Amino acid sequence: MSDQSAFQVKPLASPLKGEVRVPGDKSISHRAVLFASMAEGTSKLSGVLDSDDVRSSIKAMQQLGVDVDLTEQADGSLAGTITGWGGGGPIQPDEPIDCGNSGTTARLLMGMLAPWEIEVTITGDDSLKRRPMRRNTAPLMKMGVQFKPDEADHLPITEMGNPNLRAITYDAPMASAQLKTAVLMAGVYAKGTTTLNEPAPSRNHTELMLPEFGVPTTAGTRVASVSGPVIMHASDVNVPGDPSSAAFLLAAAILKRGSSVCVKDVSLNPARIGFVRTLERMGANIEDVRDGYEGKEPYGTIKASFTERLHGCEIPAQHFASILDEVPILSVVAAHAKGVTVFKGAAELRVKETDRMQAVIDGLELIGIDAWEEGDNLYIEGDPDLQVPQGVTFQTHGDHRLAMAWMVLGLCSGTPVSVEGADCMSVSYPGFLDDIKSLEA
Ligand code: S3P
Repeated sequence: MSDQSAFQVKPLASPLKGEVRVPGDKSISHRAVLFASMAEGTSKLSGVLDSDDVRSSIKAMQQLGVDVDLTEQADGSLAGTITGWGGGGPIQPDEPIDCGNSGTTARLLMGMLAPWEIEVTITGDDSLKRRPMRRNTAPLMKMGVQFKPDEADHLPITEMGNPNLRAITYDAPMASAQLKTAVLMAGVYAKGTTTLNEPAPSRNHTELMLPEFGVPTTAGTRVASVSGPVIMHASDVNVPGDPSSAAFLLAAAILKRGSSVCVKDVSLNPARIGFVRTLERMGANIEDVRDGYEGKEPYGTIKASFTERLHGCEIPAQHFASILDEVPILSVVAAHAKGVTVFKGAAELRVKETDRMQAVIDGLELIGIDAWEEGDNLYIEGDPDLQVPQGVTFQTHGDHRLAMAWMVLGLCSGTPVSVEGADCMSVSYPGFLDDIKSLEA
């Protein structure tokens, strides 16, 4: 039975063709807003993503007394200035800081509040309140920060900073850029060198951006360090397009016969375009070409076109973090490929906006595709002759990336589908359907 309140997705009437720019990268936008807020002076930002998650970071900074003057531009991005607190620090907010759905806001906030003697309660929506936070509070407590309740793994949590932070060397139990960034942000204020070792490389936007704001930073493949204390200085940031958003359009081009799509000015940070490498290995027509750098971030063009024969592949655990946010859409592509696709070391999927491992398995089951978990691996057995049955309603569980993955599946299949709770796309890509429309030939 299809749910009447769900979003109805009709199959595309024509192939997707042409060039498009996707909105600014979410991870880089959060960091630009937060680092500019910590810095002395006025930073100029452009290309900032205007989405619910980034709005959560902006609102949090305003509650802490930061002067944020970002306005909407003709292309839908945010641009303008942020004047940070520098050596003065934040003000005591009157109310808890509600991070909405944004794990990045909540976890990075914990790092940036570490040295300040104020008491801040951090909370979020129901999804964020279910996500683990102890991974962040544990290293920050070692640095001298206090949390109430001190053993809490879930929001709301109240933080009390410590002006005499200890520099630490910390071996992170999982590859998480949010954990790494929080520790490094606290390390900016600690005396000495703070080092974070990771079991596998996570996205490195923090290590690339902190030096631009005047923080002595060193980084290797699975290690990053900052030396403090230092007062950050203002810097200008132009945010490139978000590859995680581009992935939905590129996957649609690969699956919809006759399509050919080119995404311009998108981040080509290798830690973020593991999905391009994965799609190449599946036999897809896809290529990326570097055009230049914004700060230290590479950006360029990614092109993809319809691919008749796709085959499954194995993604090793060491590379999992580079495709972390793209598993829902890669699963949709894997469902159309011959053979089995294996995502190894995929445990982090279980603690995303929802349990993405289970949600992918359940969603694919609705269309007759076998997907299963074994240990921490996710397996999908594809079917190149996949026919989506009538009357399917996919659940998003309020997860933006699941919403867009199921929509791509419906757009590229021969059968209409319904997607329950699809509005949550606004968390990262409010204009997704407009961009699809602009590509319809
Ligand atoms: C992000 C890191 C990743 C990613 C999230 C954004 C970031 O989360 O899934 O969408 O901007 O640092 P984890 O740090 O939990 O792996």
